[in-house]
Amino acid sequence: MKGIIFTQFADFISERFGLITWQTILDNTALEADGCYVGTMTYPDHEFMQLFGAACSVSERDGVQMQIEFGQWLFPHLLQKSPPEVRLIDNLTDFLFSIDTVIHVEVKKLDPEAKTPSLQCTQLDANTLCLNYLSSRSMGYLAQGLIEGAANHFKQVISVDVTPSESPEQYQLKVHLL
Ligand code: HEM
Repeated sequence: MKGIIFTQFADFISERFGLITWQTILDNTALEADGCYVGTMTYPDHEFMQLFGAACSVSERDGVQMQIEFGQWLFPHLLQKSPPEVRLIDNLTDFLFSIDTVIHVEVKKLDPEAKTPSLQCTQLDANTLCLNYLSSRSMGYLAQGLIEGAANHFKQVISVDVTPSESPEQYQLKVHLL
């Protein structure tokens, strides 16, 4: 997982629960990097999962709720760091269609080490989009939070239904434009 996700998670936890909570999480996990993550570096996925699990225990949040809240918080921070063509997109529907075809493609051009999820988007009817999440990281609810963060950015009211599948790597996300 890219260091940027670690540094953003550290900022999210420190902002929402306080620096002491983040320090407790680092103490509880005792990982090699000891919180000194660099955005451009890549770290093992399991280290992120350990930090995430410890954060859920310390803050008494369940994993689904924490993924959603982190995603909502993360969106504006990722957008700020996005390539210029991404920041030109001016509505939620175009943005969601662009995740797989432009956004994560540009991310990987700039950093070939990035391993982004597949998020194929289709239009079910005038007001419903369907995104099929596929990734070994199993973070479908982080995708939900990011989509909600994007909707907030574009001032589009939505509701999202997430359906897990038999495989932990796959989720279906239905986005209703309200
Ligand atoms: C609504 C919009 C977006 C959604 C739903 C989305 C979804 C996700 C998810 C769920 C992950 C976690 C990794 C995984 O599940 O495999 C991820 C990783 C990532 N995304 Fe996106 N993303 C969005 C927008 C963006 C934007 C605007 C950027 C621009 C900088 C971006 C850059 C990244 C990067 C750098 C990673 C980490 C890849 C790695 O660890 O190797 N994403 N994205």
